[in-house]
Parts: sequence; structure tokens; C-alpha cells
Amino acid sequence: MRAYRSLEWHDSVIRMLDQRLLPDRIEYIDYTDYRDVAGAIKAMVVRGAPAIGAAAYGLALVASHSTARAVAALHDELVAAANVLHAARSTAVNLAWALNRMLARTAAPNLQSVDQIRQAVLREAHAIAKEDIRTNKQLDLNALPLVPDNATIIHHCNTGALAWVDYGTALGVIRTAHEHGKRVQVYVDETRPRFQGARLTAWELKQLGIPHSVIVDSASGHLMRTAGVDLCVVGCDRVAANGDTANKIGTYNLALVAYAHGVPCYVMAPTSTIDLSVPNGDAIEIEERAPDEITCVGDEQVTPDDVQVKNPAFDITPARYITAIITEMGIAYPPYEQRLREMVERAEAARNAQESASG
Ligand code: MRU
Repeated sequence: MRAYRSLEWHDSVIRMLDQRLLPDRIEYIDYTDYRDVAGAIKAMVVRGAPAIGAAAYGLALVASHSTARAVAALHDELVAAANVLHAARSTAVNLAWALNRMLARTAAPNLQSVDQIRQAVLREAHAIAKEDIRTNKQLDLNALPLVPDNATIIHHCNTGALAWVDYGTALGVIRTAHEHGKRVQVYVDETRPRFQGARLTAWELKQLGIPHSVIVDSASGHLMRTAGVDLCVVGCDRVAANGDTANKIGTYNLALVAYAHGVPCYVMAPTSTIDLSVPNGDAIEIEERAPDEITCVGDEQVTPDDVQVKNPAFDITPARYITAIITEMGIAYPPYEQRLREMVERAEAARNAQESASG
């Protein structure tokens, strides 16, 4: 597969693949101002988890272009920019996770000059991007035994290389299974209203040479009843401490249908997506997006004028409908609380150990 990077850093510029234009056109946009980066996250030029990278590199832009002479002044600029970037999208926790991690790094007592902070910010943004690749690859390997040798799989939204820095989570599992010689056939939920499945996941699967058919989101019940489906794999935007999972709208319906048919539904969740500070799904804010995502398909309006619209971008799947949650630290089965906590703590300890080892 030709490697299209969702986002790259070149000489104080962030270059992003404009995902709104795929699969028709491959175009990149360069950003030098963090406010434009926040706008790009909101408009979904970049989406899924690369928004993390965009946010982290957004702070690197601030540091790199700042004229501040004092450490405190630069730190204030970074905090203000982090608030703007954070406000761009609310449900996905990785955004906040990356920004907090970046700010914690810049506040380290050993950084005593503006230049040192500048370098530390960029180093941390690169570290987050690298870690993302490593983490997802491990997660994909951990999930591999859950995929039968001949597997028919339903996948929702886009969770592949476009949704991460490289490889991805749920789509990464499918890719890994294919690379390990398993015969996989994927039903790709189109994922209304923005068609991340039809536009992005199908595009990635085509390049990977993995057999797939795009389906409307509501076809999953029919296919489970008539064609046979072995498993559903989905990503996530935030997992609560009890395992309730926020993911792209439609995931809950898919999980319920899977539950009714005895089909396992697996959530792929890097530990950075597990938010132990929220006890359950009710405490997760659900982003509401603009009505025209529903009233229009492309340039065509499909509803009467002035129709009322409700457009939640995500939903919560209660933990009881999730068969297992797979992270880079292993597999969690219900009840989730203790195992998720343990995996998050182990991941943090491993990260801290690595940081101290690299000085
Ligand atoms: O609104 P999007 O396209 O940014 O959706 C977020 C997601 O990518 C999905 O919910 C995905 O399943 C989470 S895994 C990156």
C-alpha cells in the first residue's frame, strides 16, 4: 500500500492530507498557525486520532513561531493555544490527553530557556506520533487470535492509517489478519452522515487488496441473519472506567444487533483512549455537529427546507454489549473496571520508565 500520511511536520509547518476530498483527490494543506489547525480539526480536514497529532504539532507551531523571550510568557501562550485546540472537538479524549501531556512536558523544571521548551515541545509531538504507531501495531497483534482464519467482519467508521498516524486500530486488526494469511471479507458500514466508511475505509481496503463490500449502516442485522458475520470490530473515541464506549454514531446500533445475533463485538482501544476520570458513558460529552451534514449529500440537499435536525456525532455503547476491549497491553473481558485500570497504569508506568531512560 502506498503510504499516505494523514499528517507530517516539515520545518515548522504542519502538512495535512485533506480527508474531506478523499477518495476523489489527494491534496495537502500546509498550516503555520495553530488557530487554523484548530479550524482544520473542527472542519475535519484531519479527523479520528490524527487530530491528536495535529493538536500536539499545533503546540509545536506555537513554540516554534513564538517571539516570547521569557519561559513564563511562552508557557502562557502554549496554555492559551491548548485551550483553543481542545475546544475544536469534544468527545475524543485523545485530543485532551495529548495536549495535557504536551503541557506537562513544557512545565518540566529542567527546562529553563525558551529554546529548551521549543525543542521539548517538538520532541514530545514526535514522540506521541511514534508511540501511536508502536501502540497500534501491538494492539493489532493482541487482537489477532480473536479473528478466525476465515472471517467475515463488519467494520464501522474509519479506524485505519487515515484515522491514526499509521496502521490504525480496528482496521489495523483487519490488515494484520490479512497480512498473517487469514482470509478476511469485510462489510464496510458506510457510516452516515459523513461516510467515513464509504469514502475512507473502502479506499484504504482497496489499496490493501482486502476483499470488502460497502453496506448501508442499517444492513448489519440482515447480513448477520442471512449471510453470517463472525465478528464486528470498531474503534473508539473515549472509553469510560466501566467500559462504556463512545464511538462514531451507529456503533451502539451495531453492537445491539451483534448482541442479538450472538456475534462478538470488539472495541479496539489504545490505553490513551481510556478515560478513568469518567465513571461511565453518561458522563461523556457527545459532540453535536452541523445540520447540513444530514440535510445535504455532497452539494445536494435531500431534505425539505428548514427541516429540524439532530446530529449527534457519537454514541455510547454500554459495556454489557461489548465482548472485549483490546489495548496495546492486552485483552479486557467484562467486568472491565479493574482490568482497564490496570492496563492504563501499566502503560503509564512503561511510558515513564522509557522517558527516564531517554533522559
Ligand atoms: O468524527 P470522526 O471521523 O473524527 O470520527 C472519529 C473516529 O475516527 C471514529 O469514531 C473512530 O471509530 C474512532 S478510532 C480513531
